[in-house]
Amino acid sequence: MERKKIAAANWKMNTTVEEGIALFKDLMALELDARTEVVICPPSTHIYSLSKMPCGKNVFLGAQNMYPKEKGAYTGELSPTMIQSSGATYVIIGHSERREYFNESNVFLAEKLRLALNYGLTPIFCCGEGLDIRTSGNHVAHIITQLKESFDEFSNEDLGKVVIAYEPIWAIGTGETASPQQAQEMHKAIRDYLAQLVGEEIANGIPILYGGSVKPANASEIFGQEDVDGGLVGGASLDARSFSQIINSFSS
Ligand code: PGA
Repeated sequence: MERKKIAAANWKMNTTVEEGIALFKDLMALELDARTEVVICPPSTHIYSLSKMPCGKNVFLGAQNMYPKEKGAYTGELSPTMIQSSGATYVIIGHSERREYFNESNVFLAEKLRLALNYGLTPIFCCGEGLDIRTSGNHVAHIITQLKESFDEFSNEDLGKVVIAYEPIWAIGTGETASPQQAQEMHKAIRDYLAQLVGEEIANGIPILYGGSVKPANASEIFGQEDVDGGLVGGASLDARSFSQIINSFSS
């Protein structure tokens, strides 16, 4: 089955609105492979302005986070309708920085997933293990538990709309990358788990992205692995030329 190829940019808490607009413009001025779905997740203050800018049909916007309520007294939070009406169609859920600094649990992330799907946003659901877990050899079990505790209550149809990002925490922003073999091992384990949960056909259609120090120099080897369908890119997405090279590094 032909799965979507996705290059997603996570700008995190970087760029002013002006800088974000300039970065987006610079990226759009470069030649980008139209077969790759490009998802730009800027700070939420930038989304509306970016949504008004010219871009290719394969370019989409996403939010980096979302609160699992429709509206109300939740000072500082973003609802799914706010995200949607600002022009984004994707939302990152459960990034390791949210899990770690804001104590977001698997169960809480399931609530976010529910709301995102109810409002037709495509979730990029993140999972990943720390260095201690990787060193202890329990990385696969850890990731499957993260997914299980968040995915258990969802229908096959719902889970078929999710994009997963595997991001080993020890490789995020550290310059250290999982080897293509380490990435493939985990992506295959995730896909096998999904196949048990929703059946092979749906599992084979779910894009699983790799994240953690993806750069132009390592993207094609990692994206070339059978179960790796693209990347969620932090640091290297803040440079238009680097990110364009990553977008263009799918071999097929
Ligand atoms: P990085 O970040 O590419 O800077 O390692 C990836 C991420 O956290 O999504």
